[in-house]
Amino acid sequence: MTSHLKIGLFGFGCVGQGLYDILNHNDYLTAEVVKICIKHPQKPRSLSKEFFTTQKQDILQNPEINLVVELIDNAEEAFEIVAEALKNGKNVVTANKKMLAEHLPELVAIQQEYGTSLLYEASACGSIPIIRTLEEYYNNELLFSVKGIFNGSSNYILTKVIQENQTYENALLKAQELGFAETDPTLDVGGFDPKYKLCILALHAYGIFAKPEEVFNYGIQSLSEQDLKFAKEKGYKIKLIAQSQKIQENQVALLVMPQFVDASHPLYHTENEFNGVIVEAAFSQRQTFIGKGAGGHPTGSAVLSDISALLYGYRYEYKKLHNATRKVSNTSKVLLEVYVRYQTQEDFELFDFEEITEKYNGNFNGENSNYVIGKISLENLLEIKPELLKRNIFIVNTGKDLVFFSKEKIEKMELTEI
Ligand SMILES: NC(=O)c1ccc[n+]([C@@H]2O[C@H](COP(=O)([O-])OP(=O)(O)OC[C@H]3O[C@@H](n4cnc5c(N)ncnc54)[C@H](OP(=O)(O)O)[C@@H]3O)[C@@H](O)[C@H]2O)c1
Repeated sequence: MTSHLKIGLFGFGCVGQGLYDILNHNDYLTAEVVKICIKHPQKPRSLSKEFFTTQKQDILQNPEINLVVELIDNAEEAFEIVAEALKNGKNVVTANKKMLAEHLPELVAIQQEYGTSLLYEASACGSIPIIRTLEEYYNNELLFSVKGIFNGSSNYILTKVIQENQTYENALLKAQELGFAETDPTLDVGGFDPKYKLCILALHAYGIFAKPEEVFNYGIQSLSEQDLKFAKEKGYKIKLIAQSQKIQENQVALLVMPQFVDASHPLYHTENEFNGVIVEAAFSQRQTFIGKGAGGHPTGSAVLSDISALLYGYRYEYKKLHNATRKVSNTSKVLLEVYVRYQTQEDFELFDFEEITEKYNGNFNGENSNYVIGKISLENLLEIKPELLKRNIFIVNTGKDLVFFSKEKIEKMELTEI
C-alpha cells in the first residue's frame, strides 16, 4: 500500500483536464500530479509550462512517480506506455477502452508477472462503477446477461434526432463540441466504442477474452427518416445497445447494434450522454445502473475512484478467468429477430433469413424503401456486415431474447430425416 501518490499523467485533453480539476477539488486524497506528458507543445495550457513534457521517459523513468494515469487518444501508443509503466513497477490507471479491448490478454499477463496493478473503471460506461461491480459483487452470482447503452455520444445523437428532430450531422457536431465524441467519431457511431467496452465487461462478467474483430457491431450511421417514422408509429425509440447474453451453460453471445425499445424498457428514458447497464442474474435478478457515460468530469470521477482504490492496494483478481470450473466461451451461433430497411432486391438477397414475419415494399420521399422483419443468425450478420455498410442498409434488433441456433445441427437433422 502506498500512502502518497505521485502521479505522472499522459494526456491533458477532455478527461485529463477533468481529472486534474477533480483532484484539485479533493481535500481527502493524498495524490498530486507531478508531470504531464502531451503531444503538441505549442497548444495553450491552463497550467504553467514546467508541468508539461513531450518525452514519455520523463514519467516512465522518474523514480519519484509511483502512479501513471494514461488518458491519451491513441490506442497503440497508449499500450506501449501502459505496458512499459507496469513493467517498470508503476501501477497504472487508464480509460482507453480500444487499447484494453485489443490487449487484455497481454495486460493481464504483465500484471501477473510484474506484480503491478492496472485499473480501468473509466474505460466502460464513464461514471457507472460497473467493472468493480461485476468483478466483486457478481463474483459468485449466476449471470445471465449484461447489456445496455454503453456509448454516450451515439445516445446523445439519437436523443437529439428522435426527440428534438435535429439533423444527424448537427447532433454529431454538438456531441463533438461537448467532448462526448471520440477523436474519430466512427468509433462511436459505428458501434466500435461500445464493442470495446463489451469486450472489457465480458472479461469481468464471464472470464472471457473476446476478440473485438470477432464481435458483431453495427452502428447508427445508416439511420434514415423512414426508420424514424417506423419507430415512431410503433411507439419505439431506437437505442444503440451492446449486449452479452448467456446462451448455453458455457457460451455467451456478444453483439452491438441498434435496438427498438418501447416505453416499458428500463432504458427507454436514458437520454443524451447518459449510459445505462442492465445486469440480469439468477438471484439478484434484474439491476439497472444509469449514469453519465462521457465528458471530462464524469469520466474523471471514475479515474479518481481507481486512483483512490490503488491507495489501499486494490487490484483486479480476474477470478472468473482463473476459475477452471467456470470456463465460458463466446459464440455467434444464435438467432435474433431484426428489422432491415433496404432499397433493392439484391440488398434483400444478402440476408439468409430463417423466418420472415413482416415484409413491406414501398416508396419513401420518391425512393424505393422497403423493410423486412425476420429471424437471422448472428453468423450471417457477421459475414455480410461489410456489404450492409456499403449499401447503407439499416438494421435494428427488435429486442427479443437471443436463442441458440446452429446451421450445422439443423442440416444434420434434415439429413437424418431423409
Ligand atoms: N471524452 C470522454 O468522454 C471519454 C470517456 C471515457 C473514456 N475516454 C477515453 O479517455 C482517453 C482520452 O480521451 P479524451 O476525450 O480526453 O481525448 P482528447 O481530449 O482528444 O485528449 C487527448 C490527449 O492526449 C494527448 N496525446 C495524444 N497522443 C499522445 C502521446 N503520444 N503522448 C502524450 N500525449 C498524447 C493529447 O495531447 P495534446 O493536448 O498535445 O494534443 C491530448 O492532451 C481516450 O482513451 C478515450 O477513449 C474518453
